[in-house]
Amino acid sequence: MKRPQHPRIHMDQLDQQRTRDLDQLRMEYRLLSEKEKRLRVIHDFAIVLLQQRTVDDIVWSIARHAIAKLGFVDCVIYLMDEEQNLLVQKAAHGPKNPEKLDIMNPITIPLGKGIVGTVAEKGKPEIIGDTSQDPRYILDDVFRYSEIAVPIKDGNRVIGVIDSEHPQKHFFTDEHLHLLETIAAMASSKILYARTAEQLVRHKDGLEQEIEEKTTELKQMISHLQKSNSDLERFIYAASHDLAEPLRTISNFLQLIKRREEKLSEESTEYINFAVDGAHRMKKLLDGLLLYSKVGKRHDHFEMLNPIMISRTTQSNLSRLIEEKRASVHFGNMQPFRGNEAGILQLFQNLTANAIKFHHPDRRPTVSVLQTEEENHFRFEFRDNGIGMEEVFFEKVFQLFGRLHTIRDYQGSGLGLSICKSIVENHGGEIWLESELDQGTSVFFTIKK
Ligand SMILES: Nc1ncnc2c1ncn2[C@@H]1O[C@H](COP(=O)(O)OP(=O)(O)OP(=O)(O)O)[C@@H](O)[C@H]1O
Ligand SMILES: [Mg+2]
Repeated sequence: MKRPQHPRIHMDQLDQQRTRDLDQLRMEYRLLSEKEKRLRVIHDFAIVLLQQRTVDDIVWSIARHAIAKLGFVDCVIYLMDEEQNLLVQKAAHGPKNPEKLDIMNPITIPLGKGIVGTVAEKGKPEIIGDTSQDPRYILDDVFRYSEIAVPIKDGNRVIGVIDSEHPQKHFFTDEHLHLLETIAAMASSKILYARTAEQLVRHKDGLEQEIEEKTTELKQMISHLQKSNSDLERFIYAASHDLAEPLRTISNFLQLIKRREEKLSEESTEYINFAVDGAHRMKKLLDGLLLYSKVGKRHDHFEMLNPIMISRTTQSNLSRLIEEKRASVHFGNMQPFRGNEAGILQLFQNLTANAIKFHHPDRRPTVSVLQTEEENHFRFEFRDNGIGMEEVFFEKVFQLFGRLHTIRDYQGSGLGLSICKSIVENHGGEIWLESELDQGTSVFFTIKK
């Protein structure tokens, strides 16, 4: 019996089919494992990227940890210099990166020029299969047939380009394109973040430098002021001290003329009286100036002061004025505070005297002295119901000889408040006033605890 031919043919066909299937499977397996390798590169790159802090580190990690691991032979990463509209080579892999983080002969490409410039301008990636046919191709290190360029974007703004070349024609595929786009997208947000951080650091450094400069400037100003202040004090002291002597002589001889000359005309007597008055006033001014110039030097001993003693002494020193003006002076409850006794007494006395002296003609003078405790200092207020003053004078009255009235209306040399200011500043405090014309005045000062 003859064996039929049919099943044998069938077996051969089956074998061939199986071989084809196997080949197909092998190819699919190869493709899949390549894909898996590329995904692993992207995964590893993501982890490396997380640790990068500066823009430089980020672009070099693209070259080192993405492009190189994907097996590309060449790659350059460009970043946009927006001020100059130029693409600048920042990192590279392959022949352009001979050693460490260095680019051989880095070039710049104007926006719109060459393949890289076009990709940056349009914001669209490109694959060129044969660069010998593309007039835009710019020869950098060596000629290569294939090129792929992918923009690094922040929204619609291009901040850089990843560019790779290959000696083989039609080397780059859509898959390469997807990979580079993924890498560009990952790098983009990280670059923007690093740039903001770098700007912040620069800003902070700039601020710190500015503060340092201003502090030095201020220190110089303070030492300059201190010097001119002490020069001025020395001058005031010398002037007031030396002027006192000739003034005494003038005054003495005027008195002698007045006493000896019996036949002086009425007019002459009047003139001599004016001159004597003038000399007295000048003596007072000089005494005041002398006192002013000594505040810092004399008042250098600080101790805890008993406010009751300070109030009583002030009242007793001013008892004649208080009685004469029928003034009511009230000192509120006060806590002991640190200060120089002579200085604080002078301060209390000057302010109380002013509050009585500048009283309103229609009212009996009333003076209240109050102390309030604050975090770092005590605040004092000397409040009166006197003539008050307009706001424009609130600062002038603290200046040397800063008076608002003629000597005929109110006696005084205009030094009392300048002395107060000097004393308060010597105690590390401040002095100011609030007042309303015809209503009254409150002088405030602080004393550091
Ligand atoms: N409590 C007050 N009410 C209204 N005006 C005042 C008061 N205290 C001071 N002044 C005004 O400020 C000016 C300066 O005061 P300051 O105490 O320095 O000088 P003075 O009292 O005129 O003279 P001195 O105190 O040297 O004898 C005064 O001339 C006065 O015009
Ligand atoms: Mg005064």
